[in-house]
Amino acid sequence: MQNLYPHLEANKELFLNELIDLLKIPSVSANPQFAADVRKAGEFTAQKLKEAGADMVELCETAGYPIVYGEKIIDVNLPTVLVYGHYDVQPADPIELWTSPPFEPVVKDGKVYARGSADDKGQFYMHVKAFQLMMQNNCLPCNVKFMIEGEEEVGSENLETFVKANKDRLKSDVVLISDTAIIANDVPSITTGLRGLAYMQVEVTGPNRDLHSGIYGGAVANPINILCEMIASLHDENRKVTVKGFYDGIIDVSQEERDMMNSAPFDINDYKKHLDIDEVLGETGYTTVERTSIRPTLDVNGIWGGYTGEGAKTVLPSKAYAKISMRLVPNQDNKKIAKLFEEHFKSIAPPYVKVSVEDMHGGEAAVTPTDSIAYKAAAMAMETTFGKKPLPMRSGGSIPIVTMFERELNTKSVLMGFGLDSDAIHSPNEHYGLYNFYKGIETIPYFFKYFAELSK
Ligand code: BES
Ligand code: MN
Ligand code: MN
Repeated sequence: MQNLYPHLEANKELFLNELIDLLKIPSVSANPQFAADVRKAGEFTAQKLKEAGADMVELCETAGYPIVYGEKIIDVNLPTVLVYGHYDVQPADPIELWTSPPFEPVVKDGKVYARGSADDKGQFYMHVKAFQLMMQNNCLPCNVKFMIEGEEEVGSENLETFVKANKDRLKSDVVLISDTAIIANDVPSITTGLRGLAYMQVEVTGPNRDLHSGIYGGAVANPINILCEMIASLHDENRKVTVKGFYDGIIDVSQEERDMMNSAPFDINDYKKHLDIDEVLGETGYTTVERTSIRPTLDVNGIWGGYTGEGAKTVLPSKAYAKISMRLVPNQDNKKIAKLFEEHFKSIAPPYVKVSVEDMHGGEAAVTPTDSIAYKAAAMAMETTFGKKPLPMRSGGSIPIVTMFERELNTKSVLMGFGLDSDAIHSPNEHYGLYNFYKGIETIPYFFKYFAELSK
């Protein structure tokens, strides 16, 4: 394959400006107010895929947001790479904490700041541009299919239906995903595991209406107080989750693998400094790296009720709510965990409140192989462009469709992401390094090259 670097070099500004146009579209899938914009981001993606040289580009309608599909089949006897990504983004809230508006991208200190810059617009767009460079220089070495969805951040509900209905069309030898991080710009890594997820919403009801907290306070259970007590009881003194049956069936990771994980570069002092915390907190007996990758967890993502507006209002609220997520590891079935949580949460409810629990969405954990041709191709590609062998690394985040692809398409994934944990994805001031954006575009063609060569 010819060296595409000069072509990348010549197009850097153009590619960045295109990404900026995409980042200007507020494609927040969680909020129906942005429905037209989510669709617009899908249309933009389809258009760019077409311009890059893909055939059969289609905006495939679903019960929700459309899935962008496109392909380039150069020879049916050659292997096929299925590229997956998502054009939807997380809500930008709390907006007041952004130093520049989330949908008015700004380039500062070599990074582009915008919601979705790293997760996942900046990352899936690297694939569109890498593909374009290979097409323009006549060096695409195998077939490629693109499937870019618009509902990843809300649980990919309609993707499974689409995949089930399009198994032939999606037939491929590997799914290639850039929606994860590397350890550092000088420590490349490939994600080999993701956690699963069970996401719940709970409602605690006390009296049948908001009450005057002076007239009734002290005599009627306050659902916010009760909810806090219930939540506090969900961890024991060793920070283990107390939901009955939560750890059942989990297979312990071998000491050998734990030692390897802990030998990867990680500085606890930098970590604390970066987060402005004096101490870390987690399950006894595990390191920070382990706590955020191979161990399951439970966290409150939001809690509300009563009066939260300006000033003070004396009120004993009728209702209290919380959104609670559990990150899961292999062999924890997310549906079963959701059931266990519901049973447990109801069982700890005291008689003075009523409790309801809703299972919002979830997905299974994933472990991807490191002995496959595709993993080798990714490792060789990264070694070529970073000048260093990438380390295999389990991540704490979730991409539930990875196990769905294995189940429905019988195809394994390679998680070759280029972000950094410090990119502030899902947080205010999300950003993506231009170094990472261009490094991705540079690396992806090598993946194709090595994957095609090793598949022979
Ligand atoms: N790209 C992330 C997942 C991720 C980020 C994995 C960094 C590893 C490292 C993805 O968009 C995401 O946010 N997933 C959600 C789950 C989804 C079901 C809403 C998550 O992990 O919270
Ligand atoms: Mn993502
Ligand atoms: Mn995300």
